[in-house]
Amino acid sequence: MNRSLFVKYILPFIEWYALLIFTALFIDYFLHRYQLIAVGRYLGSIGSLSIVISFVYSLRKRSIIKTGSPKSLLVLHEYLAWIGSIMILVHAGIHFNAILPWLAILMMLVAVASGLIGKFLLKKANDSLNERKQRMLKEGLSIEEVERKLFFDSITVDLMKKWRKVHLPITMVLGILVLLHVLTIIMFSA
Ligand code: HEM
Repeated sequence: MNRSLFVKYILPFIEWYALLIFTALFIDYFLHRYQLIAVGRYLGSIGSLSIVISFVYSLRKRSIIKTGSPKSLLVLHEYLAWIGSIMILVHAGIHFNAILPWLAILMMLVAVASGLIGKFLLKKANDSLNERKQRMLKEGLSIEEVERKLFFDSITVDLMKKWRKVHLPITMVLGILVLLHVLTIIMFSA
C-alpha cells in the first residue's frame, strides 16, 4: 500500500480509535482509584445524550432545522459521538455481566469505527476533489464552471452512498439495543 495514503487516511483512524480506548481505560482506572465508581452510572446517560445531541447534524442535513453550518455540525457530530462513546465505555467498564449491554457496547464500537472510516473517506474524496479543482482552474476554467462540473462528483457520491448503507443500519441496531438495555433496567428496577 502507498505509504502516504496510510499516513494520511489510515493512521489517523487507528490513532483516534486507540485514543478512545485508552481514554476510557484511564478514566475507569481513575474512578476506581479514587472510589468514584458511582460516577460511571451517570456517564451512561450523559454519553447517550451527547450522541443524541450530535444527531442535530442529521436534522440540519435534512433541513428540518434551518440554522447552523452543516460542516460545523458534522464536526460537532464527530466529536460529541466520540466523547459520548468514551463515557459509555467507562459506564460499561470491563465487567460485562449481561449479554444485551455487551452487544450494545460491541455495536457502539463498530459504529464509532464506521464513523471514523466515513470521516476519512470524506476527507479523501474532498482531497481528490480539490486536486481536480486546482487542475481545472489552472486549465483556465472559471470558478463557477469548475464548481458546476464537480458538484456531483460521481466518485464522492458513490463512495459515501455505499458507506451510508453500512453506517445507518449499524446505528439503527445500536439504537434498538440501547432501548432494550434501558427497558430491561427499568423493568428490573421497578
Ligand atoms: C456511536 C457513534 C456514532 C453513531 C451512532 C453515528 C451515527 C451516524 C448517523 C446516523 C449518520 C448519518 C447522518 C445522516 O445522514 O443523517 C452519521 C454520519 C456520519 N458520521 Fe457518525 N456516528 C457515530 C460516530 C461517528 C464518529 C466517531 C465519527 C467520526 C469521527 C462519525 C462521522 C460521521 C460522518 C463523516 C458522517 C457522514 C455525514 C454524511 O454523510 O452526511 N460518526 N453518523
